[in-house]
Amino acid sequence: MLSPESIDINPNTGVMEPATGRYLKKVCELGQIYQDKDAFEALVAEDPEQIAYEVIEYRKAGSDLFFGTTTMRPGKIGREYFMTRGHYHKRRDLSEIYYTQSGSGILLLQSRQEETKAIEMRPGICAYIPPDWAHRSINTGSDDLVFVWCCDVETGHDYGEILDRGMAKLVVEQLGEPLIVDNPSFN
Ligand code: F6R
Ligand code: ZN
Repeated sequence: MLSPESIDINPNTGVMEPATGRYLKKVCELGQIYQDKDAFEALVAEDPEQIAYEVIEYRKAGSDLFFGTTTMRPGKIGREYFMTRGHYHKRRDLSEIYYTQSGSGILLLQSRQEETKAIEMRPGICAYIPPDWAHRSINTGSDDLVFVWCCDVETGHDYGEILDRGMAKLVVEQLGEPLIVDNPSFN
């Protein structure tokens, strides 16, 4: 029988105690996802070690659920805000939730039929990501964006399609505000 657990999550930093795993994504690893390659090169040249986001997770052996936090730094590359790689789930029948703890952003979703949805991310909003919808989070604010995610342990990630094709929509800054526009390089 599994024992109950309590995990302390700091809503401003995403730090989890205890945690069982953690990884960092540096800006320099994410060149493929941004449109403006010159702006990307310039930012990486300025600070090759700059962190874009951090993922911390808690996995309990034998459990069907696992969960964690993603903490995204604010920033932009060209007109696009810092964002996650974006992915479908390997298990096409499994969903996920994202519950924002602090900061502000947009969760961009895309179905296999290329239907697009955008869900606001701000404290108090819990987004439901249905099975087989690609999802990418975008930090449109000036502070860290922290959210808790929870899914089945079997969910897995499928990054290939979004890395190769991008998503149908981009979130860009216009006059200081986020704007969702068509991605000119999506085909
Ligand atoms: C898990 C999930 C999140 C993301 C994380 C980083 O299914 O959706 O934990 O993995 O926010 O985003 P990616 O994986 O797209 O780089
Ligand atoms: Zn996911």
